Amino acid sequence: MRILIIGGTGTIGKAIVRHYSKEHEVLMASRTSEQYPVDIADAESIKELMRKVGTCDAVICAAGEARWGPFDGLLEEDYYIGIRSKLMGQVNIVRIAQYHLSPNGSITLTTGILADDPVVQTASAAMVNGGIHSFAQAAALELENGIRLNVVSTGVVEDAYKKYQDYFPGHNPIPMQKMLRGYIRSVEGKGNGQIIRIYD
Ligand SMILES: NC(=O)c1ccc[n+]([C@@H]2O[C@H](COP(=O)([O-])OP(=O)(O)OC[C@H]3O[C@@H](n4cnc5c(N)ncnc54)[C@H](OP(=O)(O)O)[C@@H]3O)[C@@H](O)[C@H]2O)c1
Repeated sequence: MRILIIGGTGTIGKAIVRHYSKEHEVLMASRTSEQYPVDIADAESIKELMRKVGTCDAVICAAGEARWGPFDGLLEEDYYIGIRSKLMGQVNIVRIAQYHLSPNGSITLTTGILADDPVVQTASAAMVNGGIHSFAQAAALELENGIRLNVVSTGVVEDAYKKYQDYFPGHNPIPMQKMLRGYIRSVEGKGNGQIIRIYD
């Protein structure tokens, strides 16, 4: 397969790249990539990326930001960071990438446990994750040429646990291999419109 991984240099993306590079052609995109630069908060930038990439069999997005902070301190502009980047960024990836996928190809988005089990300071991030879940379930009904759309939603992954553990008291870190299986299931399984939850 020819697989485009957006956010392939991140904590989650790196593990996906490592896995799929063994037997597949992997293209890695992110804001700082020399070969495939993209800012998902900008639809034109996604279009430019897809023109450059051409056709692929799977697109995986493990990128997107949202502002964290106490609810009474979050300003309207803070919410727009997540809306533009993680939410509309991933919505636009689906809108644009669907025309660059081979028949029966797949798109996999990334959200996280906050959609279902939020912790403090995540009103914006949780909102965005929940929006992506609803979007993906609806959009998946209308994709053509056998193209499938799924979302992987994990708890805090083991490799990021140190950074986030104070926000997630009592949560189980998700082993990287377990997280990875969510992406494999989305790319190689037959499921469509699924929210693949990996929370324990
Ligand atoms: N870490 C966790 O435990 C966890 C759990 C559940 C969900 N998530 C979600 O999964 C996603 C990835 O998390 P992570 O921990 O792997 O993040 P990370 O380590 O910060 O990596 C983010 C990756 O995305 C790229 N990126 C960031 N913003 C971008 C943009 N606007 N356009 C294009 N590329 C962009 C980064 O590269 P550049 O800087 O070069 O752009 C990098 O490759 C995030 O949306 C996060 O909320 C994370």
